[in-house]
Parts: sequence; structure tokens; C-alpha cells
Amino acid sequence: PASTAEPRPGELTVGGVPLAEVAERFGTPVYVLDEDEVRERCRTYRHAFPEADVLYAAKAFLCRAMIRWVDEEGLGLDVCSAGELELAVATGFPPERIVLHGNAKSPRDLGSALRLGVGRIVIDSPSEIARLAAAVGPDGHQKVMVRVVPGVSAGGHEKIRTGTEDQKFGLSIRDGHAQHAIARILDQPQLQLTGLHCHLGSQITTVKPYLSAVRRMVGLMARLHRQHGVVLPELDLGGGHGIAYRPGDAALDLTALARRVRAELREACAAAGLPVPRLLVEPGRAIAGPAGVALYRVLAVKRTGGHTYVAVDGGMSDNPRPALYGVRYAPRLVGRPGSAAPAPVTVVGRHCEAGDVLASGAVLPDDIRPGDLLAVPAAGAYHLSMASDYNLVGRPPVVAVDDGRARLLVRRESLEDLRSRDVGL
Ligand code: LLP
Repeated sequence: PASTAEPRPGELTVGGVPLAEVAERFGTPVYVLDEDEVRERCRTYRHAFPEADVLYAAKAFLCRAMIRWVDEEGLGLDVCSAGELELAVATGFPPERIVLHGNAKSPRDLGSALRLGVGRIVIDSPSEIARLAAAVGPDGHQKVMVRVVPGVSAGGHEKIRTGTEDQKFGLSIRDGHAQHAIARILDQPQLQLTGLHCHLGSQITTVKPYLSAVRRMVGLMARLHRQHGVVLPELDLGGGHGIAYRPGDAALDLTALARRVRAELREACAAAGLPVPRLLVEPGRAIAGPAGVALYRVLAVKRTGGHTYVAVDGGMSDNPRPALYGVRYAPRLVGRPGSAAPAPVTVVGRHCEAGDVLASGAVLPDDIRPGDLLAVPAAGAYHLSMASDYNLVGRPPVVAVDDGRARLLVRRESLEDLRSRDVGL
């Protein structure tokens, strides 16, 4: 992951910039994003899926620079709120290359989508059909897809599995909800159904679940063809492509994914007598995750109960993932060579609860001390985008590194920022 290099022992660099220098110049905690790595990952997708539309899932990480890079690399965008959508369009992203998701789209979300002219709206529930048709108006026109539950279990943690029955997303094939909703959509002249969508879950590291999804989705397409005579031109298989968080972790092989999905799709469509639909994929984590590094300063070291606790200046407010999903990270010492043998330590945050652990069982030099810098790799996705204002610490800045230069993309949230929203007394 990330183009981290270690020119001298302990001197970790990303994008040609020593991380210790970034910490010195921008303070800690700080997110460092390798622009080249993001662009390279976009290109890897374009090469692996030349026949498909690749949409970056904005929820993983979003700022104006990211929108620009994704646009320049020729990807589309998957958004799930008016906030993500309006930032993208205001940054110049073409709205027709944007898809709007969401299981509970607010009037504001739908209003923005229609006003700005998003390419597709993905319908997630029966009640959304009438709402959307009314918002589009009798003379309007909107391309839509339907989010289908294929009944496939996959994903790194129970909380991020969305392809199974009995969870809040999508419409079940098994229960007939998808078929029923689609029949209603086909009755609405102002809604043009372009295809089906499914998203199995996140942090999936094997190809197989995607192949099962292809078979189930094509099965539904064949049934719709028989019952309604419709041939749907698009199939969106969502995202979920898993990455390595620690050395030795498995990541999803994108080339194998593309090759096997393509073959499965061809075969299933041939068997069903259907033309092969245009494929869409929506990776978020696999584009932003490995390109980001979180940098923290060690504030305290404590040895107690047989454990070494290394406390840093961030925590669950900038990375809730270990607490939410039990994710394991592998922090590295930055800026000096460790002079003692590596030993397992628990890297904890600064927040007011014992569950505020950033990395348990992290292996770091035993002489780790206050003032040291720690780098947490694979921190580009679902860190800052899920950050909170817990304990009024303020969210960290984002610094882009590229070609030996560092520049600020998102500034640190100041106490003044936090105070300015507090308008009553
Ligand atoms: N498409 C849809 C409709 C989605 O809901 C998601 C993610 C994606 C694409 C992108 O999935 P990705 O390629 O990034 O796995 N907060 C969790 C992950 C939640 C994912 C939500 N939906 C985490 O930190 O692991």
C-alpha cells in the first residue's frame, strides 16, 4: 500500500515527502494523502474494467481535490447525500456521471439530485417510487436503477454486510419485493429504468460472492424480460473491494475480479438469451484507503497490567473503525530508527473511554516514548469521512503529497469552527 519508502532507517516518506516533515509543518494528528497513488488506483480500475463505468464511492473520502482527481482520471461518482452531490457539482464534476444512493433520501437529497441533473437515482424502497415520480413531475424525466438484495453474504464485518436478506438496504428478490417495485417503476412514464444495482458489502477479499451476485442479478433480469418484455441495459455491482490494512492481509485481486465477473456475466446472459448489460462498479475503499496515512504524536507511554499503552493525540474521533468493526492496524514508528527490540503494545487515543483503542497488538520498538511519531497506513478511506467532534478535539487536516511537495487540502478544524456552530444560550 501507499508509496511509502524508507530511505534511511525510520525516515518514512510518502509521495517523496518525509512524514516527519509533514508533522512538523502541519501538526498532528494529520491525514496524508498520496495523490499519485489515488490516480494510479483510478487507472488500475480503468484498465481492469475498460468496458465498465467505474464510479468512485464518495463516502470513503471526499474533498474538492479528490473530486478533481477522480474526474480527471475519467471515473464517475457515487454519492449518497445532497452534501456529497453539491460539493461534487460545485467543484465542476459533471452531474450526468453521478449516481445518487441512499435508503432514506431526504427531500433535500432528491431536490438537489433533480435540480442538478444527476445521471441515475437508485431506488431503494417502494415508498420512494411515488415520491420520486411526484418530484420529477408529469413532464419530467429521470433515469433510475433499483437496488436489489441478491441474498449473498459477504464483507469484512457484520455491520458492513448488505447483500443478505433482512437488513435495511434494497429490495429482496426472494420475497418478490424487487419484482413488485420494478413493475411499478415500469408503469411510471417519467422514470426510465436503466438497470439493476446491488452492493454486497464492504472489505470483501474474494471474487466468489461477486460471481454469485452476477448469477442472481441476471436471473432477475431474465425474469423481467419474460414478464415485462424489458431488456435492462445496465448492471451495477456496487463496491466492496477489500484492501490490506496490515502487511500480509489479503486484498481483493481486481484483475481476477474483472476477468471472472466478465466471464460469468457473458455466460449467464448467453444462457438467459439476454444481451450483456453495461457494467458499473463503485469502489471507494480500494481507491482512497491505501493512498492515505494517518500521523499521530505519542503523548504518553504507560506500562500497566502487563501491557504497554502508547497514547497518541488522536483516537476514535478521527478513526472509529477499530471500535466499530474491530479492525486491526499496524502503526509504524516515524522519524527515528527504533533502538530497542520490537514488542507488542496497545496504541490508544486521547478520548474519554477505555474502548478508544487505535491498534491493539501493534508491534513497535520497546523504547517508544512521548514525542515519537506514529504512522498508520491504509487510513485514506472511512477515517476522516467518519470522524466526529467527540470531546471537541477538532477534526484533523488533510495534506496531499506529490512529487516531493506537500500541500494542504482540508484545514484542521479549529476550536473557533466548533464554537461558531453553538449559537444559543
Ligand atoms: N456502493 C454503495 C452503494 C455503498 O453503500 C458503498 C459503501 C460503496 C459502493 C463503496 O464500498 P467500498 O468499495 O468502499 O467498500 N464504514 C465502513 C464501510 C461502509 C461502506 C458503506 N458503503 C468501514 O469503515 O469499513
